[in-house]
Amino acid sequence: MGNIITQYHAERAAFKDSIRTLRTNIQFADIDNGIHSLVITSIMPSEGKSLTSVTLAISMTEYGKRTLLVDADCRRPSLAGMLKQRPSVGLPQVLAGTVPLLDAIVATNQEGLFFLDSETLANPVEVLSSKRCSDLIAEMRQHFDMIIFDTPPLCSFIEAAVLSTKVDGTVLVISPGVTDSDKAVEALGQLKKANAKILGVVLNGVADNYISDYYYRRKKGLKNTNPVIAKKSKKK
Ligand SMILES: Nc1ncnc2c1ncn2[C@@H]1O[C@H](COP(=O)(O)OP(=O)(O)O)[C@@H](O)[C@H]1O
Ligand SMILES: [Mg+2]
Repeated sequence: MGNIITQYHAERAAFKDSIRTLRTNIQFADIDNGIHSLVITSIMPSEGKSLTSVTLAISMTEYGKRTLLVDADCRRPSLAGMLKQRPSVGLPQVLAGTVPLLDAIVATNQEGLFFLDSETLANPVEVLSSKRCSDLIAEMRQHFDMIIFDTPPLCSFIEAAVLSTKVDGTVLVISPGVTDSDKAVEALGQLKKANAKILGVVLNGVADNYISDYYYRRKKGLKNTNPVIAKKSKKK
C-alpha cells in the first residue's frame, strides 16, 4: 500500500471535493490578509486531525501553494508514518536551535508539499509557548505560502491552544459520536479564551447524506439521531 499521498489521489471524488471545499472556505476566511498558517485540532483523540491536516495540505499544493506540514503532536506523532517518511530530525531540534529549519524539512512525493517531523518532547508546552517558536513560524512564512500544524487533542493537552495564538487560524475537527456537544462547547471556549481565530469546524466521518438528512429532519420536526446535533437542537 502506498503512502497517504497516493491514497489521497486514489480516493473517490466526493472525499476530495470535501477537502477542496474546506480549502476554499479557509481561503475566503480572510480575503484581505490571507490565511498562511493554520492549527488543526480536535477535542478527543482519533477524530481525524492528522488525516485532515495531511489531506488539506495536499489540496493546498494542488492550488499552487507551497505548503509545509508540521507535526506538532509531540504526544503522538503520526504524520511521518502516514507519509512513510523517516526524517532523522524535526521540530524539537529546530526549536532547540541545534538544526537549521531548512535542514530539518523534507520533500514529499507531492509537488510543493514539505514536511517537518516531530518526536516526543519532555516539555512541549514551554517550548511551543516560547518566542523562539513565534520566530520560527515567521521564518517558515518566508519559505512557504501555507503552514499547517497537526496538534494533540484539546481534551488532555493545551499545545493546540498555545499554538493557535501564533497562527492565522484554527480549524476544529469534530467526529460526531466521538465527542459530545458539551465537550465541543468547552473546547471552543478554551480556544476563544486563548484568542484563537477559529475559522470553523470540520465534521469528520459523517455520511455524505448526513447534512441533508439533518436539514430534512429539522424541517419535518423529526428527532435527530446524531449526538452532536441532537443535543444542540434540544437546547434551543
Ligand atoms: N473521514 C475518514 N474516513 C476514513 N478514515 C478516517 C477518517 N477520518 C479519520 N480516519 C481514520 O481514523 C484514524 C484516526 O484518524 P487520525 O487522523 O489519525 O486522528 P487524530 O489525528 O485526530 O488522532 C486513522 O486511522 C484515520 O485514517
Ligand atoms: Mg493525530
